[in-house]
Amino acid sequence: MNWTRTIGTCAAMCVLGAAALSVAAQTKPEAGDAAAGSEQNWWKNAVIYEIYPRSFQDSNGDGIGDLNGITERLDYLKELGVDAIWLTPCYPSPQVDFGYDVSDYKNIDPQYGTLKDFDRLIKEADKRHIRILMDMVMNHTSDKHKWFIQSRSSRTNSYRDWYVWHDGKGETATDKGDVPNNWQSDFGHSAWEWDEKTRQYYYHKFYIQQPDVNWDNPKIHAAFKDIIGFWLKRGVGGFRFDAITTLFEDPQMRDEEVLLDKDGKSYLNDYGDIAENDTRTNNLPTNHAVMQEMRAWSDTFDSPKFPGTRLLIGETYVPTIADLAAEYGTPDKPEFQLPMDTQVGFIDKLDIDQFRSKLNDVETAINGNVPLLVFTNHDRPRLDLRYGDGIHDDNIARVIATMLFASRGSSLFYYGDEIGMKTTPPTRKEDVKDPVGITGWPNDKGRDGERTPMQWDAEPNAGFSKAGVKTWLPVPPNSTEINVKAEEGKPDSLFTWYQTLIRLKKTVPALASGENVMLDTTNTKVLSWVRQTAGAPSVVIATNFTAEPQTVSLSVAGASGSVKTLLKTPGAADPSSIASIQLGPFGVYIGELQ
Ligand code: NOJ
Ligand code: CA
Repeated sequence: MNWTRTIGTCAAMCVLGAAALSVAAQTKPEAGDAAAGSEQNWWKNAVIYEIYPRSFQDSNGDGIGDLNGITERLDYLKELGVDAIWLTPCYPSPQVDFGYDVSDYKNIDPQYGTLKDFDRLIKEADKRHIRILMDMVMNHTSDKHKWFIQSRSSRTNSYRDWYVWHDGKGETATDKGDVPNNWQSDFGHSAWEWDEKTRQYYYHKFYIQQPDVNWDNPKIHAAFKDIIGFWLKRGVGGFRFDAITTLFEDPQMRDEEVLLDKDGKSYLNDYGDIAENDTRTNNLPTNHAVMQEMRAWSDTFDSPKFPGTRLLIGETYVPTIADLAAEYGTPDKPEFQLPMDTQVGFIDKLDIDQFRSKLNDVETAINGNVPLLVFTNHDRPRLDLRYGDGIHDDNIARVIATMLFASRGSSLFYYGDEIGMKTTPPTRKEDVKDPVGITGWPNDKGRDGERTPMQWDAEPNAGFSKAGVKTWLPVPPNSTEINVKAEEGKPDSLFTWYQTLIRLKKTVPALASGENVMLDTTNTKVLSWVRQTAGAPSVVIATNFTAEPQTVSLSVAGASGSVKTLLKTPGAADPSSIASIQLGPFGVYIGELQ
C-alpha cells in the first residue's frame, strides 16, 4: 500500500515538526484514571475494534456487509472484550474510495442500511457497553456532494468558496494553462483537476472525485460542527477524524520539494510520478486550531457530570513524537484524546531496536497523555505481510498483540486480526476495486488485500454471506482453516490469545494503568518491559523477536524475581523466577511479580 507508506516514511514530514511543538500538552494522568469501567475515563485503557462495514457481515445476501450484519455480531465483539467500534464511513457515497467520498454526511448509504438500522446498532451496542465511533471525513467530500455540485456550477455561486479553486498558470481565455503548482495527490498524479465549465482547477489531496474543502471559509467550520452535532445527538461515542493533518495547504502555494536519490537525482514513485515531499500540503500548524474547535464543540455534548467522555481519535500520520504530542493539544486547548500513534505501529518489520525506542518514546515523550497504539487498518497490509515469516506467523502475531495490549494506553486493532487473517491482494488488474491499486498497478496493488470479507466459519463465503452469493471482494480460500469457528473457545488459538490479553488489560491493575519501563535494553533478541503501578504487583513481559529459542535474565529493582504466570505462548514452561525466562521461537511470557 504505497500512499500511506509514503506518508509514514516521507523524510520531509519532519520539517514541520518543530512548528507544532509549541502546543505540546502538559496533561498529567489523574490518580486512578484508567480504572476499568469508569464512565468518564473509559477511553484511557480502551480496546477499540475497527470495522470496515463492507466486509464484516452481509445480512441481506447482496455480497456487501451492512449495519444489521454488525448488529448480529455484537455478542462476538462483547465476548472478545471490545469497548468501542470504529466504523469506517457508511454515509451515502458513490463509493469511489469506498465511503471516503461522502455525498451526504447526515444519512446512511442504502447499501449499508438506514438511519433506523443505525439507531438500532447504537442501542444494541449500548446494551453491551460498546460505543460506536463514526469516521469524520473533513478534508474532502465527494464530487457528488451537493456543496460541490453547487460550487462547480459557476464562479459566482455562493458555494464557490467552499472548495479550493485556482487559475491555471499562464491561463488565457482559450488556453487552460498549466496546473497551478507541482502538488500531487496521495493517490497519484497532479492534485489539480481542470473544470472546463468554470475554467479553473480544483485541488484534491486524494482522488479526483474527492475535492478538498476550503478550511479558510468559516462556513465549512459551521457545516462540519452541525454534522458532528447530528451524530453526537444520535448517541455516537465519538469520531475518528480522517486525513486530519491535510486540512490546510500552503497559502503561498509554493511547490513541493522534489526528492533526490543517493546520486542527487530525482526519481519516480510507484505511480510513475516524480517523487516529492508533502510539507506544503500536510501537517500544517493551522490544523491544530480546527481540532481545538471540534474538541470544544464535541465536549459540549457530554453530560456535565462526565466531561470529555465523547472520544476524538485522529488519523495522525505525523513524522515525530513531538508532532504526536502536539496532537493532544494543551489542558486549556485540548485536541484529540487519542491521536493514533503511527510511530510504533507503522514500523514495517520486526526490528527490536525500533520497537524499543518508539515504545519508550510514547511512554516518556507525550506529556503523560494516553497513547493509542495501532498496527493495522484498512490502508495497511495485514500483519502476515509485514512481519510474518510464513512459518511462525501465529506466534509473530502474538508478539505484536502483546505489544499492542500489554503496553500502557488504549489499543486499536482491525477486524480479523484476532484470528490471523492474511493479506490477500488481487492477482489480476481487472479484479482490483481500490482506486489506489487501479492507479498503482502492478507496483502497488492497492488495499483490497486487507479488506477481504471477515472469515467466520469454514462454509462457502465463510459465513460472511450466503453460499453462492458473489461477494464484493472474494473470500480468501484460507477461510476453510482460518476462521472464528475454528478458533473460538480453543485454548491455544490466536483468538484466545487476543481475548486473554484483553481480559488481563482490563483486570490486572498494573496492565490497566501501570507505567511502562523497558528492561534489558541492550538485548538484541528479546524485548522486555515491566508495568508498574503503586499498590499492586508489577507485571513483567518478555517477547522473543527471533525464530530461535532464547533465555533472558531480567531483574526489577526491589523485587525478588519470583513470578506467577499470567500468559505464555502455548507449550512454554513456567519460570520460577524472572532471572531465567525461556522463550520458544517468537515466544511470549507475561508474569506477575510476587
Ligand atoms: C485515510 C483513509 O483511511 C483512507 O482509506 C482514505 O482513502 C483516505 N484517508 C482519504 O479519505
Ligand atoms: Ca448486504
